[in-house]
Amino acid sequence: MTTRAVVTGIGHYLPERVVANAEFEQSLDTTDEWIRSRSGIERRHFAAEGESTSDLATEAAKRALQDAGIVPDDLDAIILATSTPDFTFPSAATMVQAALGMNHGFAFDVQAVCAGFIYALSTANSMLLSGQARRIMVIGAETFSRIMDWDDRATCVLFGDGAGALILEAQNGAGDVSDQGILSVDLNSDGRHRDILYVDGGVSTGATGYLRMQGKEVFRHAVEKLAKTANAAMDAAGISPDQVDWIVPHQANIRIIQGTAKKLGLSMDNVVVTVQDHGNTSAASIPLALSVGVERGQIKRGDVIVTEAIGGGLAWGAVVLRW
Ligand code: UT7
Repeated sequence: MTTRAVVTGIGHYLPERVVANAEFEQSLDTTDEWIRSRSGIERRHFAAEGESTSDLATEAAKRALQDAGIVPDDLDAIILATSTPDFTFPSAATMVQAALGMNHGFAFDVQAVCAGFIYALSTANSMLLSGQARRIMVIGAETFSRIMDWDDRATCVLFGDGAGALILEAQNGAGDVSDQGILSVDLNSDGRHRDILYVDGGVSTGATGYLRMQGKEVFRHAVEKLAKTANAAMDAAGISPDQVDWIVPHQANIRIIQGTAKKLGLSMDNVVVTVQDHGNTSAASIPLALSVGVERGQIKRGDVIVTEAIGGGLAWGAVVLRW
């Protein structure tokens, strides 16, 4: 008998305001055609003035609780992956905890940029397997619109805001690949590459700063490292690509998603794609894609899912789970 971290509920929230590519044509030297063909993005959601990351996270959390049929008091912990918390501190996770009316347990943020949700899943998995908690809410939530340089056409057209949340619960499994829940995790980072994707602000500068990216360089690392981490996680789980029902990748660029699927020898029919509707929502992109994948009827109980992401750091990783 083995303990497994099993998904028992999921939900997401997207801000009301939808911005189509064409809107950027009014203020920037860009076109809908360029954005679509280079990234696959058609539209994205932007948070309203005053709407913060913890607000989006709280809405997604409420929906996940409803899906699982539980109340906040049933949770032991909240782990929130974000690089755009409302404030330097306290954590956005404790703000969600208060907003949900959860007055016990513990809550904290995880910051690994676009790989944040993978890191948060890994953290929650370890806590559940060690017995430190029985039920954890794992959230990915971002308001990247707040760190965009609106004059930089090479970045500001690529990102969006949103949140996704899932509930992981410790359950008994047989200890083999037939188990429901997280089957393996692979995490990596390499701080030598900090200059290709970063925010030029923070505590040391006295200002929030803006996202800066050498897109081509990040692209080059992405396809190679994502296929490698997905393969490492599949090896650790003891599954082969032909046993995979869905890849749920970080949604940064359709060409990266296609390139990774090809390297893994999988068809795009096995990939959940939401980048056209959400843009790159960093740590929120995977839980958003999982939730939308379930809503569309793509992801069903028992399906084997490989989820992978890369972002600033660089930090990257993959999780294999049976839904
Ligand atoms: O989530 C974290 C990880 N982030 C990523 O995974 C992003 C990885 N990178 C990418 O997705 C792609 O590199 C981009 C979508 C950012 C860019 O695509 P690209 O094919 O690598 O284009 P590029 O950066 O090489 O730019 C090609 C041209 C340049 O013009 P020149 O120098 O060839 O004259 C850019 O100035 O496209 C120009 N360009 C634009 N043109 C119209 C850059 N942004 C735009 C724009 N509209 N918005």
